Amino acid sequence: MSVTMVLGSQWGDEAKGKIVDLLSQEAEIVARFNGGDNAGHTVINQFGTFKLRLTPNGFSNPKTICIIGPGVVVNLATLIAEIQMIRQAGLDVSERLWISPRCHVVMPYHPMVEAIYEMAKGNSSTGTTGRGMGPVYADKVSYNGIRLVDMVDEDGFGEKLKVQLQVKNALFKSFNLEPLDFQAVLQEKLDQYAQIKAMVRESFGLVQSSLQNNVAILLEGAQGSLLDNTWGTYPYCTASTTVSGGVTAGLGIAPKWINRVIGVAKAYTTRVGRGPMPTELNDAIGKVLQNEGKEFGTVTGRPRRCGWFDADLVAFTSKVNGFTEIALTKLDVLDTLSKIKIGVGYHTNGQKDGLAHYWEGDAHWLEEHEPEYVEVDGWMQSTKDVRQFEDLPPQAQAYVHRVEELVETPVTLV
Ligand code: IMP
Ligand code: MG
Repeated sequence: MSVTMVLGSQWGDEAKGKIVDLLSQEAEIVARFNGGDNAGHTVINQFGTFKLRLTPNGFSNPKTICIIGPGVVVNLATLIAEIQMIRQAGLDVSERLWISPRCHVVMPYHPMVEAIYEMAKGNSSTGTTGRGMGPVYADKVSYNGIRLVDMVDEDGFGEKLKVQLQVKNALFKSFNLEPLDFQAVLQEKLDQYAQIKAMVRESFGLVQSSLQNNVAILLEGAQGSLLDNTWGTYPYCTASTTVSGGVTAGLGIAPKWINRVIGVAKAYTTRVGRGPMPTELNDAIGKVLQNEGKEFGTVTGRPRRCGWFDADLVAFTSKVNGFTEIALTKLDVLDTLSKIKIGVGYHTNGQKDGLAHYWEGDAHWLEEHEPEYVEVDGWMQSTKDVRQFEDLPPQAQAYVHRVEELVETPVTLV
């Protein structure tokens, strides 16, 4: 079996793109199965610098098939722009890109609905990326979505759009927003669909025969496990399933095929958007992590919140995903710190015995808990050019081993 999953073990932005890029050299298929253009990563290779949100990270290998599975929601404008950007770099992905007709389409009203909810919630807003993810997935599960396959029949598409605009425009009017024009939206979407039509093809058969024939498949998760709609810090989470099980619904791969699940973890913790983050540092050390780690969002440019590595969280995400290994990224961001802390669980003032764990409570519960830390020595020297584990300073090796122990999962890549 040769199915490898690469998943975020924290709140996203763990540098999954880099690990996927590394592994995609050997993969014949690279597929996305969840999320949409709320994801974002920067790929730097011999062809240039690419900021990608939807295209699977196998695009630069002319032999790799890239699949956007049915669990992904597609913003057509984003996708078309990415295909063009890749073309401008002298690569053509159109022959190799498969976009499932089951994918739901982000419509212009989705970000608008999202903005209304975010505004109405005020201080308790989620702090989304503004890409319409919540509303597009909400429409999907409430039978109000528009899929790529729905665009094949223009009249049928028009009917569906009419119903949606009737409801959404009533909402916009009540918030003094300009209603959307039916003809304009219809035409824009049909034009966009025409541009990608040739790539809209169901990948199920291809995926199944690839599984049977032991073809190397790489699955690229979007966001992180703590943003999962069920297991994350709801409602400060994203709209899709980000954990390993999501691949069955999102791509049609049965659980029995998954044998290698790589959890990508930053050597510290970051989060964008609102919601609890127990090990957050609002001090000079937090600034060091932010600056050294260049912690600013790919999609929104927002500064990311930074803090110590939280082993309790990653121990949890390792269990929920079945991580077979951890890829620990950005260790060198810690190079200048003399003492480093690791969160190992939580406590409250009135606590009885032992430490509490993430899975015991919800986002509000987590907000009220303080992390318990262990402190280890830093290494105080640059590790940027180190390529062998043995060449890391002893304190850095000890740090990696401590992480392995605490998350009960081997670290196979640093
Ligand atoms: P949404 O996915 O845009 O609805 O945003 C919901 C939450 O997930 C917010 O806290 C976002 O900051 C966060 N989020 C969504 N996508 C990403 C990502 O790719 N990296 C990090 N955080 C993300
Ligand atoms: Mg990102």
